[in-house]
Amino acid sequence: MSADLKGLILSGGAGTRLRPITHTSAKQLVPVANKPVLFYGIEALVEAGITEIGIIIAPATGDEIRHTAGDGSAFGARITYIEQAEPLGLAHAMLTAADFLADSPFVMYLGDNLLRDGIVDLVEAFRSQEPDALILLTPVDDPSSYGVAELDGERVVRLIEKPEDPPSDLALVGVYMFAPSIHQAAREIEPSPRGELEITDAIQKLIDGGSKVSAHRVKGWWKDTGRLEDMLEANRLVLEDLESSIDGELIDSEVDGRVVIAPGARLERTVVRGPAVIDADADLRDAYIGPYTSIGRGVRVNNSEIEHSIVLANSSISDLGSRMERSLLGRDVTITGGADRPRALQFLVGDHAEITMP
Ligand code: TTP
Repeated sequence: MSADLKGLILSGGAGTRLRPITHTSAKQLVPVANKPVLFYGIEALVEAGITEIGIIIAPATGDEIRHTAGDGSAFGARITYIEQAEPLGLAHAMLTAADFLADSPFVMYLGDNLLRDGIVDLVEAFRSQEPDALILLTPVDDPSSYGVAELDGERVVRLIEKPEDPPSDLALVGVYMFAPSIHQAAREIEPSPRGELEITDAIQKLIDGGSKVSAHRVKGWWKDTGRLEDMLEANRLVLEDLESSIDGELIDSEVDGRVVIAPGARLERTVVRGPAVIDADADLRDAYIGPYTSIGRGVRVNNSEIEHSIVLANSSISDLGSRMERSLLGRDVTITGGADRPRALQFLVGDHAEITMP
């Protein structure tokens, strides 16, 4: 029944809010609980029966995404990569994929978004209601920072980007379902003041033309991981649901709470307080790993304390002198401390950086 529906995942974009990580790598590949954000999206689509998936990529980071997600067979899907030459907006990305989408209805999923409960409900609602567009909404505390919907029952009457005077507290989540009529609407819109073809403008075009645009509310949590704080929060939320498994080697070490230690990891005189994940081949000595921390493959930690952080593969942290908190370290980062420091340290560090704090 789902074979007709296609999926479009947007994994291009500039990622300016996550610099310097995004100078060398795609933000959609930053691991949350040691799994790339993008994989959660692919899995959500496959779970909803959508296996014909197009992924929008940017020239700079496309190859890395291709290499990481492959042809989709690992997910039980078939992935087609579509390069968007410039990040000219969500509606532009969709128009770039016009040949792939052809006349299929489809789900459009922003590749840096995470939804705890997936999209099965959304897809079912789309099938039963047969609207021209179905948008996903969630209540937020600060609607003026989001795209906001004004509803009449479950029918959407207006969408407003970052409204000064929000008509509701219902923000647009980064997942949309469309009938093929959205293409024509997107062709008719003009770039917004920030120079992008906005998907909200294309949807508004549908509404103004009398098409049926419905709303669906998210169950469970939703996170857009475009900023450091949100990435760390997504990591925390995913780790909250962690199931323990200890496969690595523990020498004079203590593990407390829900913790995953992958095979090949080695811990010596180290304390881990979960929820936390330690990936394969990590080597931790005289370390403290606190709650909500994801330690990537091959990471080395020596005589240091880390909490509520994401550390990517092959980074090395030693003799910090005070606790590192709420940090995101890229790949192959080296941080070497020396003296004791009275306060906690916070970092957002891109790949291959070397920091020494004597
Ligand atoms: P955003 O996070 O809105 O934009 P961005 O990635 O350019 O980031 P920033 O604002 O920090 O510069 O994009 C949401 C998702 O859509 C993200 O996965 C990137 C993707 N995207 C595209 O694929 N093409 C585009 O033209 C845009 C704007 C975004």
